[in-house]
Amino acid sequence: MKLLEENQSTDLESMVGLTRRGFIGAGALCGAAMFLGGNLLSRSVLADSVGAATGSLIGFPGIASATTDQITLPAGYRSTVLISWGQPLHADSPAFDPSGKGTAQAQELQFGDNNDGMSLFPIPGHDDRALLAINNEYTNYRYLFDHGKEPQSAEEVRKALAAEGVSVIEIQRRNGQWQFVQGSSYNRRVHGNTPITLSGPAAGHDWLKTDADQTGTRVLGTFQNCANGKTPWGTYLTCEENFTDCFGSTDPQQKFDAGLKRYGVVAASKEIGWHIHDPRFDVARNPNEVNRFGWVVEIDPFDPKSTPVKRTALGRFKHENAALAQTKGGRAVVYMGDDERGEFIYKFISRGKINHDDPKANRNLLDQGTLYVAQFDAGDGNPDHPKGTGQWIELTHGKNGLDAQAGFNSQAEVLIHARMAASVVNATRMDRPEWIVVSPKDGQVYCTLTNNAKRGEDGQPVGGPNPRAKNQYGQILRWREADDNASAMEFEWDLFVVAGNPTVHAGTPQGGSSNINPQNIFNSPDGLSFDAAGRLWIQTDGDSSNKGDFAGMGNNQMLCADPASGEIRRFLVGPIGCEVTGISFAPDYKTLFVGIQHPGENGGSTFPDHLPNGKPRSSVMVITREDGGVIGT
Ligand code: FEO
Ligand code: CA
Ligand code: CA
Repeated sequence: MKLLEENQSTDLESMVGLTRRGFIGAGALCGAAMFLGGNLLSRSVLADSVGAATGSLIGFPGIASATTDQITLPAGYRSTVLISWGQPLHADSPAFDPSGKGTAQAQELQFGDNNDGMSLFPIPGHDDRALLAINNEYTNYRYLFDHGKEPQSAEEVRKALAAEGVSVIEIQRRNGQWQFVQGSSYNRRVHGNTPITLSGPAAGHDWLKTDADQTGTRVLGTFQNCANGKTPWGTYLTCEENFTDCFGSTDPQQKFDAGLKRYGVVAASKEIGWHIHDPRFDVARNPNEVNRFGWVVEIDPFDPKSTPVKRTALGRFKHENAALAQTKGGRAVVYMGDDERGEFIYKFISRGKINHDDPKANRNLLDQGTLYVAQFDAGDGNPDHPKGTGQWIELTHGKNGLDAQAGFNSQAEVLIHARMAASVVNATRMDRPEWIVVSPKDGQVYCTLTNNAKRGEDGQPVGGPNPRAKNQYGQILRWREADDNASAMEFEWDLFVVAGNPTVHAGTPQGGSSNINPQNIFNSPDGLSFDAAGRLWIQTDGDSSNKGDFAGMGNNQMLCADPASGEIRRFLVGPIGCEVTGISFAPDYKTLFVGIQHPGENGGSTFPDHLPNGKPRSSVMVITREDGGVIGT
């Protein structure tokens, strides 16, 4: 099945060649800003003139920032709720219980909490039916339990596990509007206790064996599922991010070895404390369970009885998302970020080729291949629009110093300790890599570097694609593989945008790059997606205080960018205390699905139901145009 939408592209040979227009366009914008003097006034003049230009990819006027408890959109757009945390999935599932007294078993049959990355899968032969696979990243104890605190019993740990993972739901378009279908036989929860298989080079390794699973190949559950990927063969990839938050130790004398330290396991996980009530999460009693998390998990959304598979060939780290591409030779490429201060960007290339005629033939394609990590040069140091070159370094046992002397006895150990292997080969420590997407127009790869308070300390040099000390606003990096081939070992990079606040700080770096102006300010870019026309959609997970360095930015938001010109306009503002994360388009691009995660994280929101004293609920929103047009045009 050949698919071309969302985060994936890309048969580069068939793509429109924009060649170097992306670089030139952004450079021209930079030049215009400098010519106008680079001050606040000229920035807004520039914004107005760009906004009025004909031929822009962006067809709506940018909206103002907002601090209200609702979704704000351009005139002519509207939003409705598709599904919210706690929605019963099956005909006989228990109803959502806002009291927090609902059981773990009930939560296992309901939509999970804190929806994040998602992918849409059209049901073949049906224009008006599709599946949405949606991550449920973590849970808000403030709302999950009536006591509002971390789990107090094994049953409450089970309820937390049930609130995380993945929800697969059927949606149908009725009277022109996409709606959730309760009771569909496709509806499914994959949660923190669902049986899952480990496969690939690390499966069966001693470090993955536990008392409960002496084969090292069968694990219970997936959790902390951040963002996603969609394969060209019709499967969903869910990425385990902050898994170490779920582990702790009941042993006051616990020794943390280099692996536990590097992945951030600590004795008392303040937020979660699962290890107190469930020995599976206690590294004192189950030292290897933690090694069975931090993977990319492949799910067949069309088969609710299928067993998900953790693909160890893709490496173990705090996975943000997984962006699929294809080499000119037909192999699968997966770009991945490790979201932690100073961690890395990776690329996996499959050994085999994608079989587009027989999707099932790709079932185990992600089990064999080569993992690489990115190394960037210092670039040209241009303060507004730095660019440079980089290379991919292979993470294969026996190469590049990855041997027993360096602590790696096999490829399994390289993969389980991918972070440490990447350090051995001197990969570049990045400003928290979040989502990665591949342009359907020219194959360039974009990655959000969300922020990094530690840049400039902790052995993390300022420069290259990480140009700002104590980086509080973030930037979007992009690179172009040599010969426009995703199999390349070299690339050219530039920064598409450096976020900042020109209403508070004049000029670079804190005022942002020249495509930032007082009308489009934001911080902490996170979610990313391209639509079919090549618009880049940007979602934020940042400081929504609207004060100080963040004055005027309002609540978290979603923006739309034209990759060729560098222009960025604000499209959506989320409710109070939320993060905007998760994005998918209907096949006709006339409906946009957007995730609103943790509204009222610290109170103050009743989104989306707005009941008196009601709880806020993470939700997937359906965005359409009143005239039925294509989103963004
Ligand atoms: Fe789950 Fe890095 O965001
Ligand atoms: Ca994220
Ligand atoms: Ca984030």
